[in-house]
Amino acid sequence: MCKNTKKNALVHYGREPMACLEGRADIAEFVERQRKTGSTVGFVPTMGALHAGHISLVERSSRECDCTIVSIFVNPTQFNQVEDLDRYPRPLDADLAMLAGSGCNAVFIPSVQEIYPEGPVTRQRWDFGGLDKGLEGKFRPGHFDGVAQVVHILLALVQPDVLYLGQKDYQQFCIVRKMVALERLPVDVRVCPIAREPDGLAMSSRNMRLSPAERRDANAISKVLFRVRNRTVVPTDYSRDPRLLASKAREELQANTALRLEYLEIVDADSLEPLERWTAGRHALICVAAWVGEVRLIDNVLIAQPA
Ligand code: PAJ
Repeated sequence: MCKNTKKNALVHYGREPMACLEGRADIAEFVERQRKTGSTVGFVPTMGALHAGHISLVERSSRECDCTIVSIFVNPTQFNQVEDLDRYPRPLDADLAMLAGSGCNAVFIPSVQEIYPEGPVTRQRWDFGGLDKGLEGKFRPGHFDGVAQVVHILLALVQPDVLYLGQKDYQQFCIVRKMVALERLPVDVRVCPIAREPDGLAMSSRNMRLSPAERRDANAISKVLFRVRNRTVVPTDYSRDPRLLASKAREELQANTALRLEYLEIVDADSLEPLERWTAGRHALICVAAWVGEVRLIDNVLIAQPA
């Protein structure tokens, strides 16, 4: 699978050699070697099609841990549509080139058979205490069960000290953190800020499917989020009530006919419940899912709730 490289060979694209591992036994052996030397291990799970957002997680891990392992695995059990799974981009050579020199020490690229010897179905489910019900959960049934299961499997193989996830998928972070707590796994789960394009658009592998016109329209999403955030800092009459603020923001996004809004909500950053009033000292998440043409985009901003 590591094209142009021998299985488990070291890839020399950048400054540091990077191990390229495919089997469970290979990753186990690599991790064992790190343990023996007392190295701390940071882990960044991905589905590939890497961009600067993914790399920001790798770089943070590399700053904070002795050894950084990245996985590239397009997980079948978290896709709602077979077509989405089939057309998920798999630019492996470009991914390896991006990882080499980013501080990644090993990339784990397992096959579906390696991760799911008994077939790719969701066998393990957790009670996420409602975290999986709203936002993405409403539109993507079973998605988070698939995510939590694959992260659980990957954590068992990689046994990292620190797991790095992006705020871009904030609900996913909450769910994985909950699974880790329920399983009492000895791993520190850290969330990393959203990497954005210069105009504010959150980086995503889906952005490359946008036409130039759609790409311009997509900019409205982050603009609205930043505007809402600013209104909580410099209050307007309706921003004292998060429900009014959310409905005003929905109106603004819906006025843009190039976008099809799926949801815009202001939720408590811990419970993910829609906010009815602000509670100073807590955080809130303003989050959006919207279609631009055939591309579904998500984005969010985290704010300190105003008094
Ligand atoms: P993937 O979509 O490849 O994302 C891998 C990690 O990169 C996730 O933690 C995601 O939140 C983070 N990420 C994506 N875009 C980002 C951006 N613009 N800025 C910062 N971080 C960003 O999320 C998954 O894969 C999968 O669900 C996975 C966790 C690997 C399980 O299959």
